[in-house]
Amino acid sequence: MAGRLEDKTAIVTGAGSIAPGWGNGKATAVLFAREGAKVLLVDINADAAGETKAIIDGEGGEAIVCVADVADEAACAAMVQACLDAYGRIDVLHNNVGIVEPGGPEQIAEANWDRLIDINVKSMYLTCRAALPHMVARGGGAIVNLSSIASFYSLGYPCVSYAASKGAINALTRNIAVQYAPKGIRCNAILPGLMNTPLVMASVAQAYDDVDKIVAERDALCPLGHMGDAWDTAHAALFLASDDARYITGIELVVDGGITLTM
Ligand SMILES: NC(=O)c1ccc[n+]([C@@H]2O[C@H](COP(=O)([O-])OP(=O)(O)OC[C@H]3O[C@@H](n4cnc5c(N)ncnc54)[C@H](O)[C@@H]3O)[C@@H](O)[C@H]2O)c1
Repeated sequence: MAGRLEDKTAIVTGAGSIAPGWGNGKATAVLFAREGAKVLLVDINADAAGETKAIIDGEGGEAIVCVADVADEAACAAMVQACLDAYGRIDVLHNNVGIVEPGGPEQIAEANWDRLIDINVKSMYLTCRAALPHMVARGGGAIVNLSSIASFYSLGYPCVSYAASKGAINALTRNIAVQYAPKGIRCNAILPGLMNTPLVMASVAQAYDDVDKIVAERDALCPLGHMGDAWDTAHAALFLASDDARYITGIELVVDGGITLTM
């Protein structure tokens, strides 16, 4: 049976993981390759992307590493060129990169605010700006942007720059969806809820002594009984990237085990 991304090429940003285990971008890149895509693994950290490539190579998939900071315009242009040079086309742009910074307006330094907004939001404008002309020329494409339920709801602690960045991603997604729909290009967002990923566990371990207790508390908050994981995000991304979602554009797909229904 053909994979759901057979004969397609995908750019996945943040395709490594900040710590051992499965981050959202890493799981998505591996799942895309399992489904037949040729994948450009973009990451600022060559070793992290290299680990993902080793997994894909080991499974007989096709991927190459591209070291780039997606907050940098020239790097985004080079990333797109690398995909075109290697694979000749861009079918899927998966914008996964995002960082977290706790704090409210009085706590966050202006430079840190700017850095987070650059990495989380400006990066998506830059990657879209670089990739869209090629998608338009070929008459189609799918863009998937990683947002968060923090774009709508308070997570119970101040996280104002992160929440603002994710709200901006929703608006960016809807605007690109409408502008490029006549060109056959879809643009959707994924809003994960409480996920058990290295990104989250690293910040939990920093803030609390008893990590197991926090994990149990977070699991209990989710109506499905446990936090999600990177594969839950990856399966949502696969759906939105594939032709199964051919009539879906501009949506915010909530992947949260029902937690927002309780907020
Ligand atoms: N884990 C969660 O609970 C959760 C919940 C909601 C939303 N999200 C979103 O998921 C996305 C990331 O998930 P993840 O698990 O893959 O994160 P991650 O922290 O493991 O990061 C993945 C990779 O991104 C790379 N990266 C960081 N900054 C970069 C930059 N400027 N340019 C290129 N690469 C860069 C890192 O090197 C890392 O390898 C973010 O957008 C995040 O906001 C996560």
